[in-house]
Amino acid sequence: MAEPVYVFDAYGTLFNVHAAIGKHREACGPQADLLSDLWRTKQLEYTWTLTLAGQYQDFWTLTGRALDYALARYPSVDKAIKPKLLEAYFALDAFPDAAPTLQALKERGSRTGILSNGSPNMLTAAVNGAGLNRLLDQVLSVDPIRIYKPRPEVYALATKAFGIAAGDVVFVSSNRWDVMGAAAFGFRGVWINRAAMPDEYPDHAPRHVIENLGALLTVAA
Ligand code: LAC
Repeated sequence: MAEPVYVFDAYGTLFNVHAAIGKHREACGPQADLLSDLWRTKQLEYTWTLTLAGQYQDFWTLTGRALDYALARYPSVDKAIKPKLLEAYFALDAFPDAAPTLQALKERGSRTGILSNGSPNMLTAAVNGAGLNRLLDQVLSVDPIRIYKPRPEVYALATKAFGIAAGDVVFVSSNRWDVMGAAAFGFRGVWINRAAMPDEYPDHAPRHVIENLGALLTVAA
């Protein structure tokens, strides 16, 4: 079997989707966390519903629409904050263990990549902002094929880009539904369960469940 390639989900896995609110928590007020949760929930819902309907709008557009919905749902948050929240989301902060983990994988000689719903320009901004560009061999977006995870065509972007079989990909995501899609495609799934959530999708189990990215270095691929 070939040396595994480590492919990471971006939003929620390498980049903290709640970092944008974190930067403007005070301005958002007491409903800041509810706003952030609904923003993320709607962003994902729009990817699924559009893909099921055979439609596509890029992830940046859907991120803006989801924020509009969340702001309408929580009117105590001043809508004037929208451009600042979007600016923070465009170049979202990485989790502190993202760069050291990728660095350690590179030092071991592993190939690494991102496979994400994110629009290419968002991914570039976040990857460069966090200094991850030199630690990644590929940054793959769904945008060229205009469908979202967990469609199998998306996971096939990684096997094609790296020129390997699905079974040689270790796919790392904090989104359990994304690990489901990856496992269904034949990847070796690793679920980053930071918030100690209950497991789901019993037919598509991860190989490993770990609490943070750093723990990836301690489990056998
Ligand atoms: C991504 C979404 C799932 O980065 O967070 O693909």
